[in-house]
Amino acid sequence: MKPNFKVSKLQVTNFRNLESDIITFSPKINCILGENGNGKTNILEALYYISYRKSFRKNTSFPQIISIDCEEPQIIFSSLYEYENEQLSYSGKLDFNGSSWFANGKATKKKPEVDYVFINPFDAFSFNNIASFRRKWFDDHLSIIDKKYKKVLNQYNSSLRFRNTLLSKKPHDFIGQIKVLDKQMSTYSFQLIEMRKKFVDQLSPYISQIYKDIFSQANELVINIDSRFLNFSEENIYDYMQSRLDKDCAIGHTSYQVHKDDYVLLFNGMNSYEFCSLGQQKMSYLSLLFAYIELFRYIYISTPILLIDDVSGELDKVRWSKLISYLESQTFQVLITTANEKFKEELEQIEGANKIYVSDGSIH
Ligand SMILES: Nc1ncnc2c1ncn2[C@@H]1O[C@H](COP(=O)(O)OP(=O)(O)OP(=O)(O)O)[C@@H](O)[C@H]1O
Ligand SMILES: [Mg+2]
Repeated sequence: MKPNFKVSKLQVTNFRNLESDIITFSPKINCILGENGNGKTNILEALYYISYRKSFRKNTSFPQIISIDCEEPQIIFSSLYEYENEQLSYSGKLDFNGSSWFANGKATKKKPEVDYVFINPFDAFSFNNIASFRRKWFDDHLSIIDKKYKKVLNQYNSSLRFRNTLLSKKPHDFIGQIKVLDKQMSTYSFQLIEMRKKFVDQLSPYISQIYKDIFSQANELVINIDSRFLNFSEENIYDYMQSRLDKDCAIGHTSYQVHKDDYVLLFNGMNSYEFCSLGQQKMSYLSLLFAYIELFRYIYISTPILLIDDVSGELDKVRWSKLISYLESQTFQVLITTANEKFKEELEQIEGANKIYVSDGSIH
């Protein structure tokens, strides 16, 4: 069980365009509003960075995230989390030499036990169009809820790298080494598939219900694994690898293994990546994320904090309202941004929601 921390305060110094204002969050819905390029996403990024020490954006080493207007090249993060009677203050300092972190005033190497689920419009698009993105999505999220998966995946990946080096460099007796390696890889692959199947089985009932509840009763959304090894035993996997060994030697790398597996969302029985409209694809992706949050809640008896970065594009007014009603009905903490005037009005009408207006990096 994890403490169900919710973020209550954030202050950053020299992080991108944000001023050092203290931002206060409510434990429920927080609407972050402002025109394009004013700092809404930067607020979500700062929170995410504190928890994971990396950004959800690409190319985000220190030179990118330090404010271009800073007087001293040092970023300071300060954040406060609350859960029942517990409080956690967590801060960090970053400069060109590295970073140091403090929990309740004491130096620490541990990241805070505060998890986020981040949703942005590109991810919905990438999920539906790029198989490698889907694999990474599943690997990352399954690793969060199953530490064994993370361990086995790392073992599998290092074996795969070694196998590919052997196949491309072909040192003396490399076939003998590959056969030993393949025994290990078939064990890891078998375990990975078992854990993936369990994950998909656990997500399935949530995803279909959530799609119906939020977006449309008339549609059926199902998730499936697309893998050649689905009902294979370890021995079957090993035999399959041997049957491909000549081909692998010829091309100099591993032609098929579980790192090439995929996940398919079936929308009324049709492959949603090929069949669905952009709006339906976005709704399917959102349903998957909400299903993941439900599963997370079931496992940890706590919920991650949801960061929703302007997903209003492609959703019609009815779906947007339904999405907001769903968020209102849930107990998790949500930070949602939009620059869209039409959707902004709707967010402003949410009773009891905290509204954070961002203008040129300042908070009002
Ligand atoms: N290192 C940096 N130093 C100063 N400003 C930066 C830095 N990196 C990015 N910015 C600025 O931050 C602003 C972008 O902020 P952000 O992405 O949070 O905007 P936003 O409010 O989410 O906008 P949109 O509605 O378009 O998504 C831009 O004006 C950009 O120039
Ligand atoms: Mg933004």
